[in-house]
Amino acid sequence: MSEIKNQILKLLHRSPKAPLSGVKLSQQTGISRVGVWKHISALKENGFDIESGPKGYRLARPDDLLLPFCFEPHIAPRICHYPEIGSTMDQARSLAREGAHHLTCVVAENQTQGRGRLNRQWDSSRGGLWFTLILTPDVPPPMAYLYNFAASLSLSRTLNRLFNLDVRVKWPNDLLLEEKKLVGVLSEMETRADMLRFLLLGIGINANNPVSGQDYQHNAISLTQALGRPVSRREILSAFLTDFEAEIQDLNPHRIMAGWKTATATLGREVKIQTLKEVIQGRAVDVDRQGTLIVKDNQGNLREINYGDCFHT
Ligand code: BTN
Repeated sequence: MSEIKNQILKLLHRSPKAPLSGVKLSQQTGISRVGVWKHISALKENGFDIESGPKGYRLARPDDLLLPFCFEPHIAPRICHYPEIGSTMDQARSLAREGAHHLTCVVAENQTQGRGRLNRQWDSSRGGLWFTLILTPDVPPPMAYLYNFAASLSLSRTLNRLFNLDVRVKWPNDLLLEEKKLVGVLSEMETRADMLRFLLLGIGINANNPVSGQDYQHNAISLTQALGRPVSRREILSAFLTDFEAEIQDLNPHRIMAGWKTATATLGREVKIQTLKEVIQGRAVDVDRQGTLIVKDNQGNLREINYGDCFHT
């Protein structure tokens, strides 16, 4: 986003109630009133909800802005915000390869090529909270799974605390609300020698976006739908980043997996797991310390599943 547009949004954000006139914005930015008007129109086209009235311009939802200046000082420098992008995963990968810091967060209003697990398309229209966290811990690749479990656990706790909901975790990392998909998590990593070079945690939260009827996301729900009002994506992201950072401080596998088990909707359920090779049906009986799902199949055999799509039946 250009510096001038960022400046306009900052000024509007600082005046959440009183509209700012074109004259005032022009004085404070040093551009003409026509220039202000043009930038405001472009921002509106980019999806920023700016109301224009006789007294000037005002943000309709200042609490929902995701620009770095809206975050607390310890979080703001880590936020890389894009009005529109292909996928935050790709941008995060480029930034990670260029040496981005641990816990850098790439967030976009809209993704034109959002992707889900198994390379499926992820519908990411405006209003959702679409971001990728870059993690650069000094751990070997087999430890990476812990960050996925810590992320889904932290996010379920964050959402339940903020909105008094009963969001549950579905193996491996989806979040469900009322048995419908509220959040999807996608992780990708690169290794160097025998260590993790970086891990990318892509998180898609159906916040204020219309949930789609597409097959893969068919059984989806948004926070707006569940609560009957729009939510502040900034509040969610800020709280989650704080909670997640605390959760991974000492990366205690026992604590993370024990916490995850108390937050899950999968254990004890009849499940159908689509792995890359086969479909396994049975009862989910446990998740071990490595995050492997143990299913007692319909023939009575205990099956260990490391990767696959899980359906609660
Ligand atoms: C899934 O359930 O299949 C995972 C969906 C992950 C979607 C998020 S949105 C932010 C990030 N960017 C992407 O392209 N995908 C992830």
